[in-house]
Formats: sequence, C-alpha cells, structure tokens
Amino acid sequence: MKIILLGPPGAGKGTQAEVLCQNFHIPHISTGNMLREAIKTGTDLGKKAKKLMANGILVSDEVIVDVVVERIKQKDCVSGFLFDGFPRTIPQAQALEDKKVDINLVIEINVPDEVIIGRMSGRRVHLDSGRNYHIDFNPPKVPDIDDLTGEPLIQREDDRPETVKDRLNVYLSQTLPLIDFYLERSRNQQLNYLKVSGLGSPSEVSDLILAHIKNN
Ligand code: AP5
Repeated sequence: MKIILLGPPGAGKGTQAEVLCQNFHIPHISTGNMLREAIKTGTDLGKKAKKLMANGILVSDEVIVDVVVERIKQKDCVSGFLFDGFPRTIPQAQALEDKKVDINLVIEINVPDEVIIGRMSGRRVHLDSGRNYHIDFNPPKVPDIDDLTGEPLIQREDDRPETVKDRLNVYLSQTLPLIDFYLERSRNQQLNYLKVSGLGSPSEVSDLILAHIKNN
C-alpha cells in the first residue's frame, strides 16, 4: 500500500499517519520530520533547511525529491509506505511519476484555517520520533513529557501564529493544486482518492479513513 496524506499544516496528517502506518505495517515518511532530524544533527541538508523552515518556506524540489527517492529505496519500503508532507508541489508529484512510483491512495484531510491556528499553538512534539500531542485534544500522560520515552516535548519554531499564517499561504499557492492533479488521476482510475473532514476527534477521523480503505 502506497499512501499520500494531503492537507494544510495542522490538518492532522502526522496524527493519522501514526495510526495508518501501524495498521498497514508500512513506514511513515514525513519530509518535515526528516528535515527536522537533519537540522538537529547539523547535516548539509539541515543547514539548507533551517532558515527556510523557520519561516514556513518550502525547501527546493530537487533537494527534497532526492531525499525521498533515497529513502524509498530502503528495505522497509518494499511493501509500501506513507508519505506525509510530500509531495507538496506539482514538480514533486511529477517527479514521483517520472520515477514510476505508483501511488494507491491519496487522502485529503480538510480543516478550516481558524481551527488550524488553535491546533498549532497547542501542539507539542517529541523531536526524535516525530510523535505529536496537543495540550488539550491529545495530551501526553505527563505534561511536556513523551509517553513512550519519558523525554521532553518541544514546541516547533514554525508553530508561531505569524509563521502558521505564512505556511497556510504557501499551502494555498503551492500545494493546493495537487488536489486537482490527483483527482484527475483518480478519474482515470490510476489511484483511489479520499476526501475526509479532519474536524472530528483523532480517532473519529482514523475510523472514517480505515472504513473507506476496508470498503474499497
Ligand atoms: P511538516 O512538518 O510537513 O509540516 P506541515 O505539513 O505544515 O504539517 P504539520 O506537521 O504542521 O501538521 P500535520 O498535518 O501533520 O498535523 P498534526 O498531526 O501534527 O513541514 C514543515 C516544513 O518543512 C515546511 O513548512 C517546509 O519548510 C518543510 N518541508 C516539509 N516537507 C517539504 C516538502 N515536501 N517540500 C518542501 N519543503 C518541505 O496535528 C497538529 C496538531 O493538532 C497536533 O497538536 C495534534 O495533536 C492536533 N490534532 C491532530 N488531529 C486532531 C483532531 N482530529 N482534533 C484535534 N486535534 C488534533
């Protein structure tokens, strides 16, 4: 199963990715998490990405496509994977097709902008694993501590309200066109497309997605 999760920042892609990857035993490939890890370890990629990410600007298509193509060559991807935050532009999606990476399912998660701002300000993240929480909607057992490792949680630099607004604008101008791109492929029966509201609780959203997959 090869899945793409599409949706604005804060729609719940990372939250749903955890559930789907556990269910289908596929790796979670989050380009955002990969870039944050690169920044933390100080690699060349991390140095290139640091300032761009802090300001909500996308990393260049060439750089990100190379990173993803290398990642899906690894053994754990043989029976599929889930992309979270990739592709994010038409050239990235086109690059996947040029490299003959066939996608089975695109899931679009929809959440209005005003809800997104609230979600971002309450988000807390475990940097090493990418696990995320929300102080009200999905709190850790102990405030600011990761449930599994006991390590501290952080607040992402790009979750400041002014940067979230910039990220939403980048989403509208650069990522939204992917909806038509993949709907066209769905009409041509190249893949399955699911549009789901991200407004329910995390488990309600997961149930909707899993029910759709079971019935298709
Ligand atoms: P990335 O890390 O991919 O960020 P994003 O796409 O903006 O998405 P988020 O991680 O912010 O949100 P999400 O949809 O995963 O929501 P989450 O589940 O965390 O990218 C960051 C940056 O990296 C980009 O700006 C760019 O610079 C760079 N980058 C990454 N990929 C790139 C690419 N392909 N090309 C170029 N540059 C790239 O949920 C959010 C919060 O809400 C959490 O607190 C969660 O607990 C809570 N929540 C989730 N679901 C619910 C629910 N149903 N109800 C209530 N609360 C909920």
